[in-house]
Amino acid sequence: MNVLVTGGAGYIGSHVVRLLSESGNYVISVDDLSTGIGDRLDCEAVDLTLEDPTSIKRLTDLLVEKNIEVVIHFAARKQVGESVEKPEFYFQSNIGGLANLLTAMRQAEVKKLVFSSSAAVYGMPDVEKVTELDKTEPINPYGQTKLVGEWMINNASVWGLSAVSLRYFNVAGAGWPELADKQALNLIPIILDRIERGESVLVFGDNYPTDDGSCIRDYIHVLDLARAHIDAIDQLGEPGNQVYNVGTGEGSSVFEVIAEIKKVSGIDFDVEIAGPRAGDPPKLVASNAKISKEFGWKAEFGLSEIVNSAWKAKES
Ligand code: UFG
Repeated sequence: MNVLVTGGAGYIGSHVVRLLSESGNYVISVDDLSTGIGDRLDCEAVDLTLEDPTSIKRLTDLLVEKNIEVVIHFAARKQVGESVEKPEFYFQSNIGGLANLLTAMRQAEVKKLVFSSSAAVYGMPDVEKVTELDKTEPINPYGQTKLVGEWMINNASVWGLSAVSLRYFNVAGAGWPELADKQALNLIPIILDRIERGESVLVFGDNYPTDDGSCIRDYIHVLDLARAHIDAIDQLGEPGNQVYNVGTGEGSSVFEVIAEIKKVSGIDFDVEIAGPRAGDPPKLVASNAKISKEFGWKAEFGLSEIVNSAWKAKES
C-alpha cells in the first residue's frame, strides 16, 4: 500500500511510520519539523506546512504522483494549556491544516483517511468508562479542534471519504527508544524529566473523588495505539466516519503511576502535593468495547510495560 503520513516525525506518527514500513508498505511523510524530530524519520519525507495555503497544490501533486491510497493525519498542535492561551493558532493549525488536507485529497481523489482525534473531545464525562456514544463537550480549544475535525471528516463523506477517527486516551511509553516522547509535557515524561534534574514530582490534587484522591487516566502504550492505526486501514472503504476510543479500559491514578516509576527506576524521589490543575476531570477511562469488537484490537501492554519502555528510552 502507498500511505501518506502527516506528522511522521512526531512521537506517535513515527511509530506508525515504522510499523507500516516494516510490513512492506511505501510510506511518505509530510512534516514541517515544527515539533517533529527529523532523526525519527526513516521514510521518504517532504517539508510542508499543512496550514499554509500553498500546501494544497503541493499535497495534491504529491498524492497523485505517489499514487497514495491512504492518508494518516497526525500533524497538529496538541498542548491543552497552549490552546487556551492561543486559540486562534490552534484553529488555524488544526482546522486550517485539515481543511487543506481534505481539499487536496478530494482533488486527488484519495478517499481513505485515518484521523488522530482525542479523548479531549469528551471534556469532563461523569462516567466510569466513556463510550463513543457519550456526549462530546470539549472544555478547551484543543479538544474543540479535534471535535470540529471529526465533523469536517463526517461532512467529507459527500465526496466519498471513508474515515476512521481514533480518540486517543493518555499515550505514553516507547516502541523503540529513539522514537520516545522527547517533550516533557505529560505525566510520565514530566516525572522522568524531574527525576533526572533531581526535582520533586508534583501531584496536581489529592482530593478528587477517587480511591487515593488523585486523578485517574487510561494510559495506553504508543505501540498498541500505533497498531490500532494499522487495523483502522483495513476498515476503510464505505463513505463515512467511524469514531473509536483507543484506550486500555484500565485506569491508573497519579499515585499509582508514581509508584510504578519508583519501582522501575529504583529511585525514591520526593513527591509534593500541589493544587489541582484547572479543567482536570477526576477520571477519564475508555470503554474500548467498540474497537475490540469491530477491529479485534486489544491492548497488549499495561502500565508496567509503558513505564519500563519510557525509562529504558530515557536511559539509552
Ligand atoms: N499530573 C500531575 N503532575 C504533573 C503532570 C500531570 O499530577 O506534573 C496529572 C494531571 O493533573 C492529570 C494526569 O497527571 O491528572 C495526566 O496529565 P497529563 O497532562 O499527562 O494528561 P491529560 O490527561 O491532562 O491530557 C492528555 C493529553 C491531552 C489529551 C488528553 C485526553 O495531554 O492531549 O490526555 O485524555 F487531550
